[in-house]
Amino acid sequence: MHKRAHGQITVIDGKQGIEMVKFKDPFEKLERENERKRAMRRPLVAGNWKMNKVLTAVLEFALDLKKRIADVSDVEVLICPPFPFLGPLSRSLEDSTVKVGAQDVYWEENGAFTGSVSAQMLDSVGCSYVIVGHSERRHIFGDSSEEVNKKTGAVLASYMIPIVCVGEKLEEREEMRTEEVLREQITHSLAGFNSQEALKCVIAYEPVWAIGTGKTATAHQANDAHGFIRELLRELFNGEVCDRMRILYGGSVKPENVAELMREPDIDGVLVGGASLTVDSFEKLIRYKEAVAPETQ
Ligand code: 13P
Repeated sequence: MHKRAHGQITVIDGKQGIEMVKFKDPFEKLERENERKRAMRRPLVAGNWKMNKVLTAVLEFALDLKKRIADVSDVEVLICPPFPFLGPLSRSLEDSTVKVGAQDVYWEENGAFTGSVSAQMLDSVGCSYVIVGHSERRHIFGDSSEEVNKKTGAVLASYMIPIVCVGEKLEEREEMRTEEVLREQITHSLAGFNSQEALKCVIAYEPVWAIGTGKTATAHQANDAHGFIRELLRELFNGEVCDRMRILYGGSVKPENVAELMREPDIDGVLVGGASLTVDSFEKLIRYKEAVAPETQ
C-alpha cells in the first residue's frame, strides 16, 4: 500500500481511490493540518544585539556559544551584531551552523552615501540575513515603509534573507488599530514583490510597547497578530506564502517565556534583544524545547 497523504488519493493494492481518514473530533483534522504546515517552517532563534558589545566580547561569545550548542540541529540560530563585527563574527562562526545577519542596510549598491552600508557589502562579509524596518529604525531614525520596501528589495537582490519588522505602538493598540497598522506596514514593505520573492522573506512582529520594556505580549496576543499577518499574506500573495513564511515574535522574549510563545501554532521563532546578549540566556532561548513547564518545576 502506498499512501500519498492522509485523506488524499491513495493507492491500495494497485487500485487508486480516495481514502477517507476518520478524525475523532473536528478540531483534530485542523490541528494535524496546522502541524503539517508548521513543520515546513524551521524555527529561527535570532539575537538582535542592537548597539552593544566590543570586538573582544563578540569573539568570546562566539567561541563559547558554538561549543555549547554544537548538538543543536532542529533550530536555526542567527546573531545580528553591529556592522563592525559582522566580518570577524562570521569568520569565527565558520565551523558552526550559527548564521550572521545585519541590523540594517542601505538600498543603493555603492556611491556617495556617507555612513551607509550596501547589501553587496553585507553579503561579502558573510551575512545571510538582514533586519529591515526595525521599530528603532522606524521611530528613532524615521525609516518609512517605502524605504523598508527598497531595503527589502536590495537584500533579496543580493540573495540574503530580509527580516521585515512590523508592530504597533501602545496608543495604536489601545485605539484598536493594531491590524490596520500591520496591514499598512506589510502592504507597503512588501509592495511590488511576487510570491517567489515573498517566500524568501521572514516577518518579525514586534509590538513597540513590548520592546525593551519587560512587557511581553501574551502568547495568545502574539499568536493572534501572527494569525492576522498570515491571512494578510494569503490575501496579498497566495496560500503557499501564507503557509510557508516564517513569522517571528520579538519584544521582551526571555528564557522564562520563550517556550510558551513557541508553543503557539503561528509563532515560528523569536527575535530577541536584551536576552540574546549573554551566552547563558541565549543558549536557554535556543534550547526552548528543553524548558520545563513552570507548573512542574
Ligand atoms: P528586547 O528583547 O530587548 O525587548 O528587544 C526586542 C527587539 O527589539 C528585537 O529586535
